[in-house]
Amino acid sequence: MQRLLEPELMNDLEQVTAYANADFAAAHSAIMAQFPRLFPHTEGLHTVLDLGCGTADIAIRFARMYPNCKIDAVDGSANMLVQAQTFIERESLQDRIILHHQCLPGCELPNKNYDAIVSNSLLHHLHEPQYLWQTLKQYATAKTAILICDLIRPTSQQAATLLVEQYADSEPEILRRDFFNSLLAAFTLDEVHAQLSAANLPGLQIEQISDRHMLIHGYLP
Ligand SMILES: C[S@@+](CC[C@H](N)C(=O)[O-])C[C@H]1O[C@@H](n2cnc3c(N)ncnc32)[C@H](O)[C@@H]1O
Repeated sequence: MQRLLEPELMNDLEQVTAYANADFAAAHSAIMAQFPRLFPHTEGLHTVLDLGCGTADIAIRFARMYPNCKIDAVDGSANMLVQAQTFIERESLQDRIILHHQCLPGCELPNKNYDAIVSNSLLHHLHEPQYLWQTLKQYATAKTAILICDLIRPTSQQAATLLVEQYADSEPEILRRDFFNSLLAAFTLDEVHAQLSAANLPGLQIEQISDRHMLIHGYLP
């Protein structure tokens, strides 16, 4: 099945509200559990960059898990960031998570580089996937722990429908629609291999962790 693009930014208020009200606890805590598995030595973890942070659920989980880190979280959607700021203040994390209203590529962030760079569900939104790999190269060093998570495009629209029925059956229609569109916009494992090769990022590994998710993790060369 060909990739079908969806809009890059999630700025529609109804969509943002549905996203903010959704329960991503199981999915996001499973992603967070991968970080210490892949990067067990985190004594030097002080600066973190979250790309495409959305409502900051991942950034908040990260901040709780690693209490010594400060996080710069980037998103191009103003409405997402309004919601993110509310959640961050509810958790009293406003001194540790700083939001940046910026778009990839060409982000201008306060640190020259970061100890860790994380990103969940951004890659499939990007019309040009190299924007993510360029941004990694801009802000990572050979010591930066990199963890990207994204969807895997199924082989057909029928397979995508089955995944929506299996994993989002009780969700509101808008989230079911977004999930379906995101599955169609996602990349295959082979496509991400080709992207990493084109970006000359041999230190990043691709790992399929479920029937619909891949992890891309490792270090720059
Ligand atoms: C599916 S959401 C994921 C949000 C969050 N990472 C999470 O896991 O809950 C994707 C986010 O990426 C943002 N985004 C998409 N393209 C972007 C770009 N070029 N620059 C910055 N943010 C972008 C969207 O606005 C949206 O908030």
